[in-house]
Amino acid sequence: MDRIRTIIGKMTLEEKASMCSGGGCWTTEEIKRLGIPEIWLTDGPHGLRKHIGRKDSTGADISELAVSFPSAVATASSFNTEVARRIGAEIGEECLRENVQVLLGPGANIKRHPLCGRNFEYFSEDPLLAGETAAAFINGLQEKGVAACVKHFCANNQETWRMTISSEVGERALREIYAAVFERIVKKSKPWSIMASYNRINGVYATENRKTIREMLRKEWGYEGCVISDWCAVHSREEAIKGGTCLTMPGASGTDHEIVDAVRAGTLSEELVDEAVEYILNLVFWADSHRLPEQKPIDFSHGHEVAYMSEVESAVLLKNDGLLPLDPSKRIAFIGDMAEFPRYQGGGSSMVNTENSVSALAAVKGYCDVTFARGYNGPEVDDDLIAEAVKAAKTADVAVVFAGLSSITENEGFDRPDMELPENNNALIRAVAAVNSNTVVVLHTGSPVTVPWEDDVRSILQVFYGGEAVGEATCDLLFGRRNPSGHLAETWPLRLEDTPAYLTFPGDSGTARYIEDVYVGYRYYETRKMPVRYPFGHGLSYTVFEYSDLKLDKEKFGPDDEVGVSVKVKNTGNMAGSAVTQLYVYVNKCPIMRPSVELRAFEKTELQPGEEKELKFTLTKRDFSYWDTKHGCFRMPRGKYEIRIGSSVRDIALSATIEAEDEIIPENMRYDIMSLMEDVLKHPLGKEFFSTRSDEITDGLLRSGIAGHNKGRTPTKEELLEMAEALYSQPLLVVGMYLPYTTDEEIAELIDRMNGK
Ligand code: BGC
Repeated sequence: MDRIRTIIGKMTLEEKASMCSGGGCWTTEEIKRLGIPEIWLTDGPHGLRKHIGRKDSTGADISELAVSFPSAVATASSFNTEVARRIGAEIGEECLRENVQVLLGPGANIKRHPLCGRNFEYFSEDPLLAGETAAAFINGLQEKGVAACVKHFCANNQETWRMTISSEVGERALREIYAAVFERIVKKSKPWSIMASYNRINGVYATENRKTIREMLRKEWGYEGCVISDWCAVHSREEAIKGGTCLTMPGASGTDHEIVDAVRAGTLSEELVDEAVEYILNLVFWADSHRLPEQKPIDFSHGHEVAYMSEVESAVLLKNDGLLPLDPSKRIAFIGDMAEFPRYQGGGSSMVNTENSVSALAAVKGYCDVTFARGYNGPEVDDDLIAEAVKAAKTADVAVVFAGLSSITENEGFDRPDMELPENNNALIRAVAAVNSNTVVVLHTGSPVTVPWEDDVRSILQVFYGGEAVGEATCDLLFGRRNPSGHLAETWPLRLEDTPAYLTFPGDSGTARYIEDVYVGYRYYETRKMPVRYPFGHGLSYTVFEYSDLKLDKEKFGPDDEVGVSVKVKNTGNMAGSAVTQLYVYVNKCPIMRPSVELRAFEKTELQPGEEKELKFTLTKRDFSYWDTKHGCFRMPRGKYEIRIGSSVRDIALSATIEAEDEIIPENMRYDIMSLMEDVLKHPLGKEFFSTRSDEITDGLLRSGIAGHNKGRTPTKEELLEMAEALYSQPLLVVGMYLPYTTDEEIAELIDRMNGK
């Protein structure tokens, strides 16, 4: 730190300004005179994408050879943070060997809507699952001495108008969903850098946003890393520095003078520039100190193995009525262009240059000879290819159709127009299933699609954009050498029209209004009890898991307590496999409008047939809390909650009830005559005041006539107390009216005492 401050002390204002933008497209500025080296920043996040300054025949940048790992959509579906950690560590190793110091990833944005073109690059619709997976990836990467640049901070949930759109998101949705994922990441993995996104957040560009960067990220979460802009996301160098963005990328030496001019004109304080430079130099010197003394070649085979194991754990068996695993002695047809040319990665900045991708058609040779029919080639329906596929399907015992989204449908830079597979895929599946009642569909997509032929096929395996080893993983899962254990990290809705943001995605007039608020993904479908195609957390296995002995270590708890949960899970089937145990907190009745259910913990457990293990989870106040916009803090409402254990949000095996007793009064809580009774009763003085006055209240209710209209029958004491409770959403003013013997002065005195006077 002292060394860095000394260097800053020697820098001219011009040098400081130049340090605040890249030295080129992929490097920071080097200042030889002061011994400041340049460092490399390179995409990520599904492998290393280091440009080598040459273009291919199509004009696209060529990058160094690297391993292509499963996309984030897959990694999160593993529900195994160890998978993410291993991928992070492996990419870290490649970065070191290629002399790259910062990896631009992972992408941690919440999947607000299934059509977002970059959903394949994001983890989940749930901030816990996304946050835990991203944090594990970052820990794996940074343990190697390579900095992560987690992106895109924040509320960057669509590609349409991505550089101009204003995400109009309410404070509560920001705190509970869109920023919450970054909060978890920052606290659990301390990423060395974070990328401020293209979009505006409630009108203010993310790169200039004091509220999200300075207040939330820095002040509240204590973040000490470097904030870097997305490429070309800075519109004013002065406002970026003021907002808290330290480094403008890519190289922007043409605008460095804006910083110098602003300091000289007195509109920007030099201290803020120094602060930005300090964060940048911290990153530069840390990353520089981890360079390898000499470059070594990348170990592609080790990376391939990691990519393979990751995909094995991530693919999701969506449907299986017993056809899978396949018997290799049967006559099998592989149908569809993607059997030979799988879409193993998404397009855009995360695209990796690998020479080691393996297709299912190649991998299946290890099992048996299959007949192959292409089925489609290009975007159009090809009747001849379909006819050929039907012929192959007719003579096979089992037909496996490979389908998916192409790069012209799902990609960075644009959103999908609809939730359908290309018609050439749907037509092919329908035609094959019509002649072969043993049809399996393998899907390569980065987000949900409709499956109109679902009833006509016996099994569906979602392999996502599964990285370079996707073919081997697919075959090993199809033939049962491996047991599927991925679970969906996002809901598959029945129809696009059912989705929570349907009415406001992608928005209009420069804004996307997040009117669905905190009801994102399953939080919406569960609260509304809507039918869906596949629920959040869904994933099948070739074995069976049973849960028992759900225990909570207490029946009641307060805000300072932890709740210990234990449950046993047993493999009662015949094959080894991994159970994905999900713990949800379910809210039955609560005075606050909130999602009925939220994922609060998960664990993946490998079990041999007959084996049983006990799992333990710990819950804290935050797991029961919502963001109280009025007081600007998380609060846990009193009441009863259910702890649910299951293998998807809808497949709940066990549940137990727990009561939250009291909650902490927000520090900035002030009371007056319009304070709500429910708040007054949370204060010990308020509670005492009213607990000694229950007779007076019931008396007051009777005397006021409010309780006396029941055909002359006098309500019982219990009925009157129930009625009094119904008044608790009213302010003190109203309840005071039902206190016949208490004076206004006594109420005023209570207010003063609660305010500490
Ligand atoms: C993308 C980032 C990426 C950067 C550099 C931007 O267009 O949004 O995710 O890291 O380009 O390639």
